[in-house]
Amino acid sequence: MTELAAATGHNYSAEALHAFDELDRRVNGVFEQLKEWHGWQLFVHPETHHDQMLGMIREVLKAVTWYQPHTTEAGFHMIGRLAKSEVKLIQALCSHKAEEAEHGLWALEDHGILADKTTRTKEASSPAAFAVASVWWRMAQVEDAFGYLGAEYLFEKLTALVTQAALPVIEERDLPRGGLRFIIEHALEDAKHAIFLKHLILDVVTRYPESVVAMNRCFDYFNAVYPLPVWDEAYERAMRA
Ligand SMILES: [Fe+2]
Repeated sequence: MTELAAATGHNYSAEALHAFDELDRRVNGVFEQLKEWHGWQLFVHPETHHDQMLGMIREVLKAVTWYQPHTTEAGFHMIGRLAKSEVKLIQALCSHKAEEAEHGLWALEDHGILADKTTRTKEASSPAAFAVASVWWRMAQVEDAFGYLGAEYLFEKLTALVTQAALPVIEERDLPRGGLRFIIEHALEDAKHAIFLKHLILDVVTRYPESVVAMNRCFDYFNAVYPLPVWDEAYERAMRA
């Protein structure tokens, strides 16, 4: 294998470049859909009260704490099912997933800061967050392991787009920064992670053109439960609070 063409960006096939553009276009489509969603419209509306904005952030973070440990463990399981000759790919993906592992704790800390005493108690997962964990574990057990890259790209690129769009709103409205570490750090981190995954996707599809089918399929499975079902629940909880 060619030292994970990741480092160079060279020698990718035209098919791989096309497949990646299509995947990227699909994430942008999910983001456009999200911007039309009533929860996002409320978040960016200039007259929305700070407490409502922070309440929505708090509830999205709560959802992260519900699914993230499970998507992390399922992700490691799926990476572990890659062909054992893919040493550099496995190393690269494990290293990235290890960095991600901590992010559920950032969400937990931020949620603790934003939550009042009545909402700090440990609750069972919401149905949509449970579905996210379930989809990831099912993919991890039965899907083509290259499909991981499609689902993970949706995770990383969408988080980069959402946090980068949320930051200026937070700054304009001068929201208190306590409890916003997850958003602030992801605006930078996930942009880098999305580029990292882009090169892995280009490398893998160049070497295994058929892998794009599983990547798109896993993208679809994950997108069926994320982000809107999870965020809709978060919105409803925030409005009830
Ligand atoms: Fe990330």
